[in-house]
Amino acid sequence: MSMFVLGIETSCDETSAAVVQDGRTVVSSVVASQSDLHARWGGVVPEVASRMHVERVLPVVIEALEGASIQPSRVSAVAVTNRPGLIGALVVGVACAKALSYAWRVPLLGVHHVVAHLYAAMLADPGLDFPFVCLVVSGGHTELILAEGHGMWSVVGRTRDDAAGECLDKSARLLGLPYPGGPAVEELALAGDPRAVALPRAWLDGALDFSFSGLKTAVARAVKRAQPGFRLEDMAASLQAAVVDVLVAKTVAAARLAGVGRVALGGGVAANGALAAGMEAACKAAHLTCSVPPRDLCTDNAAMVAAAAFPRLAVGQDDGLGLDTVATEYLPLWGRGEIGLERA
Ligand code: KG4
Ligand code: ZN
Repeated sequence: MSMFVLGIETSCDETSAAVVQDGRTVVSSVVASQSDLHARWGGVVPEVASRMHVERVLPVVIEALEGASIQPSRVSAVAVTNRPGLIGALVVGVACAKALSYAWRVPLLGVHHVVAHLYAAMLADPGLDFPFVCLVVSGGHTELILAEGHGMWSVVGRTRDDAAGECLDKSARLLGLPYPGGPAVEELALAGDPRAVALPRAWLDGALDFSFSGLKTAVARAVKRAQPGFRLEDMAASLQAAVVDVLVAKTVAAARLAGVGRVALGGGVAANGALAAGMEAACKAAHLTCSVPPRDLCTDNAAMVAAAAFPRLAVGQDDGLGLDTVATEYLPLWGRGEIGLERA
């Protein structure tokens, strides 16, 4: 008989719930974005995010159940992002998930947010088998993850300062563009010349880590020095190219180093057309397959959370009502950390 998992995601500024069947089929997915609400401050305001999650989480869960046309009695487990993220925001989803798990007497499974993005790639592309390297790139994360099997994740590279999305958002702000900056930069870049403004790429001596804070500073300097005739489109295209070049090169290098033949993308920045196109071209040249999920699975959503919990549910795991909420938790570093299904 089919198993339906209700997923809940409230780690940042999206309140989301979804029902996923057997870890593979998205039956319903509801995402209530708070992006407009935070736009006037130019970034996510944690306290505002928490309060909105409180207001929205139950209506969103109800809408997901109604959309799936299933009674709560058909739900086999509740999965929730419990780490890492904005603590006040995470707590809302976790409290809701605990209450539902208790009321319905079903297992409760906590999911690591970055791991959930890996499952988004697998949901979108059923042909994406282990092992693969996934670039999770959003406003809060820039991580290269080696996925060797369920629960077998390790970090092969990560940002040493700003996340790529954070760099785009902050640079966009310097350019007078609205929040979130990524989509605004992408749209302007369509009419710009990526070679017009010389911006740095932090290669970090061949390491697989990233650094984007210098790029943001370079954008600020270029804006200050701007001459008459300066085109915002050219700046946007140059900024986007500087981010994309490094993300693509390091992802392909990570796949080569780890000896895997498959690459996937996840996170909000993966919705960027130039990144997808650049990654696809580089992967083709390197004889790697490349999975780019559709936009609704790249950005934060609860379907990926439900999918991530399924392999653990299938082997009878249950985190129970003692499940912790954790603001910061890094996945183990490649070759150095412990791996195991129990911490999937
Ligand atoms: O995954 P996400 O929805 O939320 C988290 O940050 O966890 O990602 C949001 C980030 C923002 O930095 C936003 O500017 C960026 O993703 N983003 C994009 C695009 N759409 C969203 N960046 C570049 N191009 C886009 N089309
Ligand atoms: Zn995310």
